[in-house]
Amino acid sequence: MKFTVAIDGPAAAGKGTISRAVAGRFGFRHLDTGLLYRAVGAKGGDPVAAAVGLLPEDLTRGDLRSLEAGQAASRVAVIPEVRAALVDFQRRFARAEGGAVLDGRDIGTVICPEAEVKLYVTASPEVRAHRRWLEVGGDPYVVLAEVRERDARDMGRAEAPLRAAEDAVVLDTSEMSVEEAVGRAISVVQARMEGR
Ligand code: CDP
Repeated sequence: MKFTVAIDGPAAAGKGTISRAVAGRFGFRHLDTGLLYRAVGAKGGDPVAAAVGLLPEDLTRGDLRSLEAGQAASRVAVIPEVRAALVDFQRRFARAEGGAVLDGRDIGTVICPEAEVKLYVTASPEVRAHRRWLEVGGDPYVVLAEVRERDARDMGRAEAPLRAAEDAVVLDTSEMSVEEAVGRAISVVQARMEGR
């Protein structure tokens, strides 16, 4: 069975948690596509060469979740050749037998416009910054500024800007618990699998 769940949205909206839960519930594989861009940014040097030569072990570096790695990711993610180098891998993953969940910024719009389910997970910048701060600590104002800066870069870029696909189900998690957000996402996938 081929079945793709595309989950897009801005930084720290809860995509990762929802994606892992959906993948676990339906036995699908999960790809956090942000990690690809984080790994390219973290490699340093020429970003296009880093993207073309990206290896599985590059995705296991311990420092990829930091705020700095997020900023470096969003800077290399504006480069069309970097994005192009990562397309095939993501599409193969999406259409592999057994079902797949991919989370990122452009999955429903560019990578998998034919995905069976598209979710756009969002929340207010303040709520997202608070969640990120709980993970990384530090100065909360710096974390909020980082979230806003990355939103502006991701939404404003010319190539594959962050936006909800027209046929995406929008999930604003600002006032939802994790359980509620996960439950909503699972019921959207369930309904689609049952042909509703
Ligand atoms: O975890 P968080 O939502 O903060 O970020 P991420 O999903 O790991 O993505 C890091 C950065 O990579 C984003 O700010 C985007 O600039 C870029 N990215 C992208 O351009 N396209 C994707 N499909 C995934 C990430």
